[in-house]
Amino acid sequence: MSPPRSDAIVIFGITGDLAYKKLLPALAGLAIHDMLDMPVVGVARSPWDGERLRSQVAASLKDAGVDDQSVLARVIAQLHYVRGEYSDESTYDQICKTLGRARHPLFYLAVPPGSFEHVIEGLASIPCAANGRLIVEKPFGRDLASAHTLNQLLRRHFDESAIFRIDHYLGKEPVQNLLYFRFANAFMEPIWNRHYIESVQIDMAETFGVEGRGHFYEQVGAMRDVVQNHLLQVLALLAMEPPTSADSEAIRDEKTKVMRAIRPLEERDLLRGQYRGYLTEEGVAKDSQVETFAAMRLFVDSWRWAGVPFLIRTGKRLPITTTVVRVTLRQPPQHLFGAAETLPAKNQFRFELGPGQVRIDLHARVKAHGTAMRGDDVSLQFCSDRDNEASAYERLLGDAMKGDATLFARQDAVEAAWRVIEPVLGAPGPVHVYDPGTWGPDAADAVAAPQGGWHHPAANHAQDACK
Ligand code: BG6
Repeated sequence: MSPPRSDAIVIFGITGDLAYKKLLPALAGLAIHDMLDMPVVGVARSPWDGERLRSQVAASLKDAGVDDQSVLARVIAQLHYVRGEYSDESTYDQICKTLGRARHPLFYLAVPPGSFEHVIEGLASIPCAANGRLIVEKPFGRDLASAHTLNQLLRRHFDESAIFRIDHYLGKEPVQNLLYFRFANAFMEPIWNRHYIESVQIDMAETFGVEGRGHFYEQVGAMRDVVQNHLLQVLALLAMEPPTSADSEAIRDEKTKVMRAIRPLEERDLLRGQYRGYLTEEGVAKDSQVETFAAMRLFVDSWRWAGVPFLIRTGKRLPITTTVVRVTLRQPPQHLFGAAETLPAKNQFRFELGPGQVRIDLHARVKAHGTAMRGDDVSLQFCSDRDNEASAYERLLGDAMKGDATLFARQDAVEAAWRVIEPVLGAPGPVHVYDPGTWGPDAADAVAAPQGGWHHPAANHAQDACK
């Protein structure tokens, strides 16, 4: 029997940045696809009234490019606001009253990690949450021990099947395509290992800074904000063994297994940076050592990947916004045509994970026209700009409403990911200042030096529409 569909959505933190940028547009997406046939209760501490919330929704949808006024009207028609402290019993009584007859509400914890405990305890105390589901935002804990404690708290009150640890990267179309492309094509498996692959580079670059999220960002930094979750999840999809089926647990088992095989990061393999100007952002300590950039070299200790470096680089205020994976293959064992030309570029797979596109390039070598056996570097390419049809958040909200946990992180994988970065959380080394618009501190070059340096994603690649 399939689990019951959620019959209401409750968003804690409805006045916050995540709700504004992602969750309200996701609700609009659900409305567009006729899936918003239920009450939505927004909860927050701000002294807003319904009118203030409605104008926030209108602004959020406008920013997200949703111009259709009937969609806005449909979202607003379902929306209620409950104002209250997360630690007050009365807030939860009010939520129950507002929910009316809903029996299977979906509770979204879009609140700072410091408020998780209050909200979880609060929900545990009300009858209308007994058959509900919970979506918990990342970061799930702030290290291994706190992730464990948070999980114990959740499990004390809720069944595992009711807990959805969201990592919105897993809901992205191009990220799902990594799994699909790897295991739907027979030609991939024979080459997808240490014998043919020389290195892997994962970049997540953003042109913008912390944009008013300074207070939150001070608690996390790049390592907790995106490496422990989004980027290690991408690495796991690239490096995992084939699952025995497409079943949710089979996939999550393999991801956990490979996550456990990642060697814990050492300080010498990490370089942290901070963009010039970060210290003057609102909510940031004047002497903050929090990183807005991180570059690291990881290794997966398995038969498949022994000795292959996985380079990860992420930062804010970099030259372009893109997330891209580059898998570099080894050179052919003999350079048959080498005498007539300079050494050819190496074969590479390049997976562009956004924004806005699903794109896969295979960089190969073909013969150039003419009498000489000389070649050109070409790119065989698949590109689709349909990534924006349903946002990751819309898809994941829809999945959680159905009780489908496939695209959510499982606790054992979350803990394995904390284990990878745990050694550097307490002693991460110095933070190097870099200028906005650059690829981070010069010192980061050393991390990729053994692989011949970083490949910088080309600006035009990320911005080009699919042709
Ligand atoms: C969030 C981080 O999880 O992911 C942000 O907190 C980051 O700092 C964002 O900017 C990137 O996600 P997307 O989907 O907008 O690329």
